[in-house]
Amino acid sequence: MHEKHVAEQKAGCFDCHVPKQHKKTNYVEAIRQNCAACHPEQHLYQAQLIEGPEREGVPKTPGLMHEVTTNCLACHVRKKDLKGTVVLQGDARTCVSCHKEGHLEMIERWKKEIAEGIKQAVALQKEAFQAIEQAQSDQLSPEVINEARALYEKGLKDLHLVQYGNGVHNKKYSLMVLNNASINFEDAIILIEDEQ
Ligand code: HEC
Ligand code: HEC
Ligand code: HEC
Ligand code: HEC
Repeated sequence: MHEKHVAEQKAGCFDCHVPKQHKKTNYVEAIRQNCAACHPEQHLYQAQLIEGPEREGVPKTPGLMHEVTTNCLACHVRKKDLKGTVVLQGDARTCVSCHKEGHLEMIERWKKEIAEGIKQAVALQKEAFQAIEQAQSDQLSPEVINEARALYEKGLKDLHLVQYGNGVHNKKYSLMVLNNASINFEDAIILIEDEQ
């Protein structure tokens, strides 16, 4: 550092060294503004949907606007009051500002398709949950119960990704992930039925 910058380039000591000052900081603000200290994984699901990485049973499928790097703030512009603080909500009107009027309808259609996929997956999830409980009270083999439970957990992970991440962030990927969730729940049910 010193050889290059001080000797050769004539940088002044105080260009790099700032005198230490013991300033008073607001101890509340210091942590309040550091959201990630308490919310370390905030909005991970939304980011995962947008990137659409490969997962077991689902091929890599990035969102339609991933390549052109349309980031969160492109669509999250509508101010909403959330328990006294402002949050910028996702708004379908923004689609129109970059695309056409027809895109308003498109997002409504997406939401319907995703809601339908979630409904189906949730129905199978409940069925699988009950089947596992029944298998336990019927005292089926622990291997079968464990295998069914593993399938159930896999399905639950997929379901939560779309439920919590909001499928609008990547409709195609979300539908595939939901379908995969349903398949895992179904497999758990069939596994138990075969054993009963
Ligand atoms: C280009 C930036 C830069 C400039 C200009 C600079 N320094 Fe440094 N200085 C550093 C860095 C980086 C370190 C290393 C800090 C560390 O390792 O923690 C350092 C370390 C030091 C140290 C500690 C020495 C040690 O071995 O631990 C002293 C004393 C020091 N500088 C004095 C000066 C003085 C006096 C000048 C002006 C003549 C000066 N510096 C200019 C960047 C700079
Ligand atoms: C000291 C820890 C802490 C910090 C720092 C923190 N939060 Fe929170 N936050 C929480 C807790 C705890 C909850 C309540 C979770 C629950 O419902 O149990 C919460 C809830 C929320 C909620 C849900 C809505 C609500 O108000 O209940 C939002 C949104 C939120 N925080 C955003 C933020 C943002 C943005 C920041 C940074 C400016 C932040 N948080 C900093 C701990 C923290
Ligand atoms: C292409 C536009 C678009 C992008 C990019 C986008 N969102 Fe969204 N987001 C939306 C829309 C539209 C909604 C759904 C609003 C509704 O349900 O009416 C939404 C919903 C959400 C929600 C649920 C709460 C709400 O506002 O309804 C969260 C949380 C969220 N987005 C976070 C993010 C984060 C974080 C990113 C970036 C990693 C992101 N979004 C990127 C359009 C977008
Ligand atoms: C900041 C501008 C911007 C916003 C906001 C935006 N998009 Fe896009 N979108 C783009 C760009 C740029 C492309 C890539 C264009 C291409 O590939 O031809 C794209 C691509 C698409 C595509 C695939 C190509 C096509 O035209 O069919 C769809 C579908 C799409 N966006 C839907 C939406 C929806 C729905 C929303 C609202 C939730 C939205 N977009 C919000 C800029 C935006």
